[in-house]
Amino acid sequence: MTDTIVTLPAAFDIEEVNRLIRTRRSVYPPSYSGEVIPEEKIEIILENANYAPTHKLTQPWRFVVFSGKGLEKLAHFQSDLYKQVSEARGNFQEKTFETLRTKPLQASHIIAIGMKRDEKELVPEIEEVEAVACAVQNMYLTATALGLGAYWGSGGITYLEEALPFFGLQKPDKLLGFFYLGIPKGKWPKAIREDISTKVQWVVD
Ligand SMILES: Cc1cc2nc3c(=O)[nH]c(=O)nc-3n(C[C@H](O)[C@H](O)[C@H](O)COP(=O)(O)O)c2cc1C
Repeated sequence: MTDTIVTLPAAFDIEEVNRLIRTRRSVYPPSYSGEVIPEEKIEIILENANYAPTHKLTQPWRFVVFSGKGLEKLAHFQSDLYKQVSEARGNFQEKTFETLRTKPLQASHIIAIGMKRDEKELVPEIEEVEAVACAVQNMYLTATALGLGAYWGSGGITYLEEALPFFGLQKPDKLLGFFYLGIPKGKWPKAIREDISTKVQWVVD
């Protein structure tokens, strides 16, 4: 399914694109300044998420944006749910509870990342998760271009079925984690990567 192309897309400055992609890093809440990101910037990030590729155009990404008092709401919800679930499983840890209660308050915004399973199950579930991951990469790159710190966290209540309704989801949808955002302070982290040649095979004849 393609749109009619009325004009050829403009060429982009590949050096600038390379720089953006290779500069993108995960920047964590302790490196956020505590200032609040203007909402217009969050809207650009969300708009760009919506341009991710998606098999059969299912567009499975769903987001809930938390800011201000919403961050406290999220902090309470996730720490209380963790307590309830981990106590029932007999593996409750006070430190994890405290982290879940306090970490959201270090961010300017947190975007909960959901995958909405298409009712007709047009494509395999893994492809819906992949499409959401593409949307998150768009958010990462846009945040970098805007000079913002961001990271995808998948700890805590991520993947818990009991968490779904709080984020407007229901089984078989999935909660895939949280996209933390803040204004970075201090140094931008350095990338750690093994050379691409260790991960690629070329077949040329
Ligand atoms: C699906 C996914 C889940 C992640 N979950 C976590 C997490 O729970 N905690 C964390 O510290 N980082 C998490 N990260 C961020 C990675 O740790 C980070 O991308 C990796 O260290 C590479 O660093 P970079 O993003 O700066 O290149 C996650 C990344 C992805 C793609």
